[in-house]
Amino acid sequence: MFIKSIDRWFCMKLEGAVAFVTGASSGIGRETALALARSGCKVAVGYNKGAAAASAVVKQCQLHAPTIKVKIDITSETSVKRALTLVRKFGAVSILINNAGILVEAPFAQQTFKQLQAQINVNLLGTMRVTHTFLTLLLVSNEAVIVNVGSVISKEPYVNLTAYCASKYGVRGFTQTLALELPSTIRVYCLNPGLTATAMTDFEGIRPSKVAEVIVRTVKETLRKTSGDDIDVPDYV
Ligand SMILES: NC(=O)c1ccc[n+]([C@@H]2O[C@H](COP(=O)([O-])OP(=O)(O)OC[C@H]3O[C@@H](n4cnc5c(N)ncnc54)[C@H](OP(=O)(O)O)[C@@H]3O)[C@@H](O)[C@H]2O)c1
Repeated sequence: MFIKSIDRWFCMKLEGAVAFVTGASSGIGRETALALARSGCKVAVGYNKGAAAASAVVKQCQLHAPTIKVKIDITSETSVKRALTLVRKFGAVSILINNAGILVEAPFAQQTFKQLQAQINVNLLGTMRVTHTFLTLLLVSNEAVIVNVGSVISKEPYVNLTAYCASKYGVRGFTQTLALELPSTIRVYCLNPGLTATAMTDFEGIRPSKVAEVIVRTVKETLRKTSGDDIDVPDYV
């Protein structure tokens, strides 16, 4: 029991818990889905365009635990609601990993407004949209954990990533503020990876499985953090 509230530490049991991971068709999300399945979670694998890749993830997860594939475009309220209907049939979700994200690297003036807007829409509004819709499910769980994937640049600026930075600063602010509003049965964390070897970075950085390990520790609540806190991945790998 590790997460301090007014009168107790919390600890999530993963065996049999239902987890929904967005952006689980590749990269950090894929490894997180696999790591959660290995820990005994039933996993709903969220994907948008990567249907074939998601099927492969599902196959691997199913070696360990019941798993389903869930199509979700986190920029569309209709799509998010459809995903909720599917996931609800699968089980009572108590773990939500808001991982899906996009990045465009170029000077502010050279990005189209559409590109700037898309990064905010996926990374920040998408995270809020999914959380807002899935909260009804999480609220009925005895214990629930939300992990919002931010970035080490949720805290410091980085050249040529204006909209991405703004979106990730937003994810961090959203997490901290939501934590103040949620009942103590739901804890929310901002998980900040550093450079990680995925399609987003042309495969530069640490292995995404290392980030997934920290996400699993975050979900298990063994890191002695309080709801709303940052989990800075470089501190743990
Ligand atoms: N890699 C890094 O160095 C790094 C560092 C810090 C933070 N992060 C964060 O880590 C998270 C995962 O990124 P990654 O590095 O693993 O990149 P990735 O391999 O490119 O994965 C991105 C995932 O997001 C999904 N996605 C994109 N747009 C979506 C939408 N509109 N609706 C639903 N899903 C959508 C993609 O799904 P489909 O392919 O199925 O469309 C894909 O599965 C992101 O939030 C990213 O900002 C990454």
